[in-house]
Amino acid sequence: MSRGVTVRVPAKVNAQLAVGAPRPDGFHDLANVFLAVGLYDEVTVTPADELRVTCSGPDAAQVPLDATNLAARAAIALAERHGIAPHVHIHIAKDIPVAGGMAGGSADGAAALLACDALWSTGATRGELLAICAELGSDVPFSLVGGAALGVGRGEQLTTVDVGGTFHWVFAVADGGLSTPAVYGEFDRLTAGTDVPEPAASPVLLAALRSGDTTALAGALSNGLQAAALSLRPSLADTLAAGTAAGAQAALVSGSGPTTAFLVADAESARKVADALLTSGTCRTARVAVSPAPGATIV
Ligand code: C5P
Repeated sequence: MSRGVTVRVPAKVNAQLAVGAPRPDGFHDLANVFLAVGLYDEVTVTPADELRVTCSGPDAAQVPLDATNLAARAAIALAERHGIAPHVHIHIAKDIPVAGGMAGGSADGAAALLACDALWSTGATRGELLAICAELGSDVPFSLVGGAALGVGRGEQLTTVDVGGTFHWVFAVADGGLSTPAVYGEFDRLTAGTDVPEPAASPVLLAALRSGDTTALAGALSNGLQAAALSLRPSLADTLAAGTAAGAQAALVSGSGPTTAFLVADAESARKVADALLTSGTCRTARVAVSPAPGATIV
């Protein structure tokens, strides 16, 4: 019998998230500069009598185990294309914050896809895997690729971005999640009647990533969904202020939130800012991580 396959997959932070006006299909055109960060889920697939998903980790209770789970959907999508029965046990060892704006669900989708592909020896090309990822969700292709990339369209059309150094981050995990569609809906409400510019990648931001210069990156980070996330969860302003007061060079909401991200100078200030965030009482927990990190990888 075939043994299981395990894939390790990173979380992401958006160094830039420029959001355009809503499209006729309800999605928004983006200029989305993804940066993979070293917080990982591990997804293991093993042959089974039927498709089954289990999850372990401190936040496991918040993870849906039915067919809405992107890992299950990834297994089904790949199996359908190759005429295979999707009979696998998918186990997710979860360390990425759930519903936190760090692409944890997308990460599990990409990881399950890569793991099933290896388990079933489908011979799928990288292009086919990326196409399935894009069907599963806008952030899923990046979870497969990792590193740093500019995503345009819904965020699924990726170009690699060069990163010239290591960046240190602290992530403050909030109590409860924020629904991504709700945050985009709030963005639409807040921008209604205004002229929303076409999203474009910031040359200053791309240069900062290329140079590996933390101070330059701190000045160039931006998140077009931040006002919407703060509108739905005003208490995030207190978390941002606590991290800034503790010495973070930049503070912003991660993607659609409610996780907040703090760029810091080095590992020592990361520990200091994480401690200050924890004692501030403005978040549930604080995590330290570096970027960039590799994409989904079989371990
Ligand atoms: O692609 P994904 O399923 O991750 O998107 C989740 C939701 O986020 C979409 O249903 C939509 O409401 C919103 N979204 C968007 N524009 C994007 C990506 C996501 O409006 N480019």
